[in-house]
Amino acid sequence: EILNIFVMLKCEIVMKRKIVILSGAGISAESGIKTFRDSNGLWEEYRVEDVASIDGWYRNPEIVQEFYNQRRVQLSTVEPNRAHKLIAQLERENDVVVITQNVDNLHERAGSSRIIHLHGELTKITPEDKNGDVYDIGYQQIKMGDCDSRGVQLRPYIVWFGEDVPEINRAAEEVATADILLIIGTSLNVYPAAGLIYYAKKDAQIYLIDPNDVNVRLANVVHIKENATSGMEKFIEQVSA
Ligand code: OAD
Repeated sequence: EILNIFVMLKCEIVMKRKIVILSGAGISAESGIKTFRDSNGLWEEYRVEDVASIDGWYRNPEIVQEFYNQRRVQLSTVEPNRAHKLIAQLERENDVVVITQNVDNLHERAGSSRIIHLHGELTKITPEDKNGDVYDIGYQQIKMGDCDSRGVQLRPYIVWFGEDVPEINRAAEEVATADILLIIGTSLNVYPAAGLIYYAKKDAQIYLIDPNDVNVRLANVVHIKENATSGMEKFIEQVSA
């Protein structure tokens, strides 16, 4: 009997498909967070080199702090949408890893448990000398002059243009072991994140959910040309069939 239980458990573990999701700003659009590159996107309102680059931080850190303070306030007013929730529900029957370029916490709040934030997290801060400490601040503001106990200035825990992406190798390993790769709501303009899709196994099933054309140079992509929420419903129908 015990042996039987072992065999059953083992089968269940072996049978679980691995679904890796690479998400971008588009998944949070229906929650009310603007994307970056769509018309009316954030990069029409702000210069990316001013607010999201390490050079911008050294030139004018006040503007950068203000930009992320506003993003935090906004994040406190929005909710995960059905696409985030359906992704979290995939965990019931699959081995799921979410790799997100988003700095919001909507995947967490929807219930996903394994999330790699490639570009950092809005609700966290770190000293600018990057000594490794990371502090949770929720939706609070930080200002120039706010320092850690050593007197080192605190900055948003965000990966800016011009900085390394520390999680990229871990993310690549996850993509390389996926049975199904789902790319959702990203224009794939920003590297190294955009290059992750090319780590997929040859026989992996690859899905793309985006209402617009996206430059994915892979032969076997199923493009569900819809918004994230309706696209996720279709994705689930297709992978459960
Ligand atoms: P982009 O703004 O570049 O791309 C958003 C994608 O979402 C586009 O392909 C849109 O067509 C799609 N989209 C728009 N509305 C959608 C919806 N309702 N449902 C599904 N898709 C929708 O955003 P990212 O690719 O995430 O980095 O940008 C990558 C990185 O560039 C960000 O992480 C950020 C930015 O600069 C940093 O700031 C470091």
